Amino acid sequence: MTLKTLFITGGAGFIGSALVRLLIAESDWTIVNIDKLTYAGNLESLATVSDNRRHVFSRTDICEREALDSLFAEHRPSGVIHLAAESHVDRSIHGPAEFIQTNIVGTYTLLEATRAYWSALAAAEKSSFRFHHVSTDEVYGSLGAEGLFTETTPYRPNSPYSASKASSDHLVRAWLHTYGLPTVTSNCSNNYGPYQFPEKLIPLMITHALSGKPLPIYGKGDNVRDWLYVDDHARALKIVFERGVPGEVYNIGGNNEKTNLEVIDTLCSLLDRLRPRTDGRSYLDLKTSVADRPGHDKRYAIDAGKINRDLGWKPQESFESGIAKTIDWYLSNPEWIAHVVSGEYRTWMEKQYGK
Ligand code: NAD
Ligand code: TYD
Repeated sequence: MTLKTLFITGGAGFIGSALVRLLIAESDWTIVNIDKLTYAGNLESLATVSDNRRHVFSRTDICEREALDSLFAEHRPSGVIHLAAESHVDRSIHGPAEFIQTNIVGTYTLLEATRAYWSALAAAEKSSFRFHHVSTDEVYGSLGAEGLFTETTPYRPNSPYSASKASSDHLVRAWLHTYGLPTVTSNCSNNYGPYQFPEKLIPLMITHALSGKPLPIYGKGDNVRDWLYVDDHARALKIVFERGVPGEVYNIGGNNEKTNLEVIDTLCSLLDRLRPRTDGRSYLDLKTSVADRPGHDKRYAIDAGKINRDLGWKPQESFESGIAKTIDWYLSNPEWIAHVVSGEYRTWMEKQYGK
């Protein structure tokens, strides 16, 4: 039996590395992991699979068409799961250019390279091929106090990040309708868990708390996000890739709506118990109000009914169990955090792959 090959883009990032670890452990796929290694790419997150012969890493920018063509010709994959992106809203506000480049131009370039390869496949391989585009619920804009995002909610992106992801979703849709490329798209709510870069809310709060730094709360802290443990997302991605119907969109969410203040208070009280501060004070004392994020979306919440009904997926973790696992991981992996905070994680990657 020949083992089948799958391309994963962005596999050195937070969600991509969780998906790679899952697929190495729980599938037969050989994975070609295509990642540019931006600041968000970290090969230390792939340490447990680095020696596995079913994991092949390629430092490649998805905006480089010739490099992608060579990878397709060499590895002849049965599908692509596309996660590579610039992913942080605050960075998109301060500098949108990279978001336009990677999320829009990069997705376009990857779609075209995929289409060229896919068009030349034999009929059976052509119809079983999948291009799975991984996206966000932020494309739907902001909710008021009531309601949930469904797969038919109109697109109303508000940040440069979500606008660039919305653009990429539209490109994927057009490549399906115009060229017949068999695509599926999934739109997921906020993820948290091990190996998340400490610029996003939960790892930022944990790492700041552990080093005694202020915990910056944007505005009143009453914005709501719907939190999903990253391994639950990775399991959903595996199912959507393997069983999703071409042309369909699947929303993925944890049904765990929390205000930012609820999240921060939970983190502080768990840390008070697990790693009490030496001065006897509570981590809650580090909470600090700061200026609000411009255009800050008020509330996100996902109706994940379709993926549950059609593909049988539901999350395994509650917010309480997921957050406990997450804190446990950050407390047990001070080296990973230290290397990220000091920038040391880049040193050996740059030695191997250049700047
Ligand atoms: P991340 O920022 O942790 O990782 C992104 C990865 O993409 C990094 O490894 C980076 O090196 C790589 N990359 C960036 N530009 C590239 C390029 N031009 N070519 C090749 N690789 C490149 O992101 P994440 O949080 O793991 O998110 C992964 C995907 O999931 C993104 O598409 C994001 O929009 C989507 N998503 C994220 C969340 C979330 O809560 N983090 C929620 C829903 C959807
Ligand atoms: P973030 O993790 O950046 O995800 P997103 O903006 O994609 O939802 O932020 C989650 C929420 O936390 C969002 O409402 C902004 C807020 N936030 C803070 O209050 N302080 C912070 O330092 C960060 C990074 C986020």
